[in-house]
Amino acid sequence: MRLLVLLVGSLAMIGPSCFAADGDAGHGAGIYQRCLACHSLQHSRSGPRHCGVFGRKAGTLPGYAYSQAMKKSGIIWDETNLNRFLENPLKTLPGTKMAYAGVKDAKDRADLIAYLKQATRDPAICD
Ligand code: HEC
Repeated sequence: MRLLVLLVGSLAMIGPSCFAADGDAGHGAGIYQRCLACHSLQHSRSGPRHCGVFGRKAGTLPGYAYSQAMKKSGIIWDETNLNRFLENPLKTLPGTKMAYAGVKDAKDRADLIAYLKQATRDPAICD
């Protein structure tokens, strides 16, 4: 784990384009199609809307009926926590009602998170 931290740290110094967490948002938009069955950026569906999700505390979008597990999780949605959750939602947060197996490929997740980071705070999409 420590080695990984060092490795990621040195990659970040070489340049952002080499850093796995600095994903390809264009490819991430394609991965986001998997989420559209239940989510959209602007409107809550069976899952909560994603606009503004970055930096938001989990389970706090007004008017959406979250599980107790999500409400009590204390998670703040940043890259690290999204990455953990999206790899395996049901394992990371037992009791969540997000019945989705997760995005297993690390590169796909990094790209998806890069996309979400841009799109969920894009004033042209999110008011
Ligand atoms: C089968 C439907 C479904 C799919 C597919 C799905 N989600 Fe969800 N998602 C939900 C539900 C339902 C919740 C609310 C979970 C809870 O309250 O425990 C949720 C919650 C979330 C949250 C927490 C939001 C908040 O406001 O705290 C995030 C982030 C999230 N989903 C991201 C994603 C992403 C990204 C994808 C695609 C890779 C995805 N979800 C796919 C149903 C889904």
